[in-house]
This record gives sequence, structure tokens and C-alpha cells, in this order.
Amino acid sequence: MLPSGILISALFPLFVFCSITGSNSVNVVTLGSIEIFNAHEWFHSKPTVYFRCQGEENKTVLPDVKKTHVLYIFKGEESWQPLTELPDQKCKRCGFYEKDNFKSDDVFDEWELCPADFVEGKYIRFKENEFNATFICPQCTAVADSDNGQSQSTSTKHNKRNVALIVIICLLASLIVIVGMVAAQKYWQKRKREQDQARFLQLFEEGDDIEDELSLEPEF
Ligand SMILES: *[C@@H]1O[C@H](CO)[C@@H](O)[C@H](O)[C@H]1NC(C)=O
Ligand SMILES: *[C@@H]1O[C@H](CO)[C@@H](O)[C@H](O)[C@H]1NC(C)=O
Repeated sequence: MLPSGILISALFPLFVFCSITGSNSVNVVTLGSIEIFNAHEWFHSKPTVYFRCQGEENKTVLPDVKKTHVLYIFKGEESWQPLTELPDQKCKRCGFYEKDNFKSDDVFDEWELCPADFVEGKYIRFKENEFNATFICPQCTAVADSDNGQSQSTSTKHNKRNVALIVIICLLASLIVIVGMVAAQKYWQKRKREQDQARFLQLFEEGDDIEDELSLEPEF
């Protein structure tokens, strides 16, 4: 009665929590803000600006970016976010482009996006007369001056250790919950047995009372 249903409903939120914290440890990159300076050919039609990394099919279209010299600020939770994910200690060649219906797409800039470029989870890419963009990646955070590969690898190691710690904590928490549920079930069963016994004894006593009354009757 008590067992599996409640056990599953107690463990489920734990699994959800663990998988969410686990997946957060990937190097997810979101766009914090962007300002475009160069219009390319925006006079003709509504521009479509997009972000794309080489070797990936998916373009990330920035649906709101339609005007030059306007600073667009993002929360990182927009429907089209995140921009991309970076592997540990490896760069991706990415860029901002503008869709062109008649010839090949215009390039604002194309560069190597590296986890080690992020300082305290933030990276600013500025290209004169083209754009100024900030990228956010909390997990990418390398120690302040990261021009030697050393600090990058320590920060990555740090991330790995955090993930391992989260996994261990989640396993321990699951174990504690399971043990707790089993103990609760045992206690509950024991209590129920005691109650049954008590009720049983009470029935007997009541039976005795009736017998007493009956046996008393003949004397009257
Ligand atoms: C590309 O987009 C499709 C559909 O939105 C998605 O299933 C797939 O995972 C994406 N691929 C990458 C590499 O982001
Ligand atoms: C680019 O944008 C960031 C954030 O909005 C700002 O701090 C920085 O000063 C800008 N850089 C230039 C050169 O405009």
C-alpha cells in the first residue's frame, strides 16, 4: 500500500533536480547583448541576422535585431537561446551573418569562440564598424588571465569535480530517501499489527463482559 507509489513520487523530484543540475554543467553559451553598426543591405528589406557555428546545421536567428545602433539586451531565456554549446578545451568557429536572398549571406564576423576566452563567464566580441556583442557562459569561466592553457584546464577540472560532487550527493540523497521510506513502511506495518492486536484483545474483553453479565443473570 505505502511502498512503491510513494517511493517513486518521492524519488522523482530528486531525479529531476539531479538531471537539471547535471545538464547545467555543460558549457552553454547565450547571447547577453548585441549592437549592430553596419547595415549591409538593410535598406531593401527586413534584415535577418543569425548566429551559426561551422559544422552545425542550425542557424540561430535573432528575431528582434532589426535596427542598427540599438543595443539589444537579452536575459538568456529567450525562445531562440542558447546560441550554442562549447566542448571542454575546444573552440568552435562561429559567426554572425545576415541573410541575403539574392547572393551569398553577408558576414559580420567569423571567429574562434573558445571557452578560455570567457572571463568570469562573460566574453565581449567587438568588431569595429560591424557589431559589439556580449556572450554569457557561466561554466566557461576561466581564471582571470587565461592566455596560457593552464588556467583553462584547471577550470575545466574544477567543473568536472563539481559534476562528480553533484552526482555523489544525488546518489547519497536517493539512498537516504530509500532507507527512510523502507523504515517508515516497517514502522507503519508494525503499528498496524499492534492496533489489530489491541482491537482483537478488546473484542475478547467485551466478550468476557457479556459472558459475565449472562452468568450473573440466573442469580436474579
Ligand atoms: C538542430 O535543430 C533541431 C530541431 O530544432 C534539433 O533537434 C537539433 O538537436 C539541433 N541540432 C543542434 C546541433 O543543435
Ligand atoms: C560593448 O558592449 C559592452 C556591453 O554593453 C560595453 O561594456 C562595451 O563598452 C562596449 N564596447 C564598445 C567598444 O562599444
